[in-house]
Amino acid sequence: MSSSYSRKAIILAGGKGKRLAPITSVISKQLIPIYDKPMIYYPLSTVMLCGIKDILIIVSPQNESLFKSLLGNGEDWGVELSYKVQERPEGVAQSLIIAEGFIGDNSILLALGDNLFHGNELIDLLLSANERQTGSTVFAYPVRDPEKYGVVEFDEFGTVKRIEEKPEKPMSKYVVPGLYFYDNSAIDRVKKLTFSQRGELEITSLNQGYLDDGMLNVEIMGRGMTWLDMGTIDSLHEASAYIKTLECRQGLKIGSPEEVAWRR
Ligand code: G1P
Repeated sequence: MSSSYSRKAIILAGGKGKRLAPITSVISKQLIPIYDKPMIYYPLSTVMLCGIKDILIIVSPQNESLFKSLLGNGEDWGVELSYKVQERPEGVAQSLIIAEGFIGDNSILLALGDNLFHGNELIDLLLSANERQTGSTVFAYPVRDPEKYGVVEFDEFGTVKRIEEKPEKPMSKYVVPGLYFYDNSAIDRVKKLTFSQRGELEITSLNQGYLDDGMLNVEIMGRGMTWLDMGTIDSLHEASAYIKTLECRQGLKIGSPEEVAWRR
């Protein structure tokens, strides 16, 4: 059995999308368009690029039927899509508990439904992370505004010392994007987490736990890669402009599950 068959993917598309109100008062953030396709198509294409075929989409209660009518069971794209509801948005790490039955004893790729990845290095980064069956692999990407994310602190030798969620004084400009590879122990690890001050089970606490156990592999995503989070009005607009510019110039599609299915 190849390793890609023993890893299952979760796309977290729950949440209230408060920063995008009033657009998200009636529709999930991950269903609104990023240029020519719904936002969810981008993370879906990313997990499909890994060769993962079993994909669980976690949605908010009001949007379950909309996601199902948009994406169906995935057979057109050669994947198996299933759905679970996150009743209340209580953190990214909660998705692993919701997905426990779906994951079984497999490894996990967790992708945030509002994160867009694009670039030449992407396939190689994904495939090598997918090969590692034990521990966790996360990425570190330099941004101008690290305080909005999980920030990686390095020591003088470049070894990762700590990961801190939304620190007031970030210790580096490298942050952890919403694409996490975990071994199966992640589920038990999340069950031991406590809620943070913002009332969430923090994915950063899970990653810090792997780091404490010497089981966290942090890969730098270089400047040739694009990572956008699409959770604010401005980032929504930037992501649409980015996709439009590249697609119109090159005549190629970005974030197209059809194309990934065909290529794989
Ligand atoms: C979440 C994570 C954060 C990560 C970010 C990536 O932030 O908590 O560590 O860097 O996603 O998009 P949130 O969207 O909950 O603010």
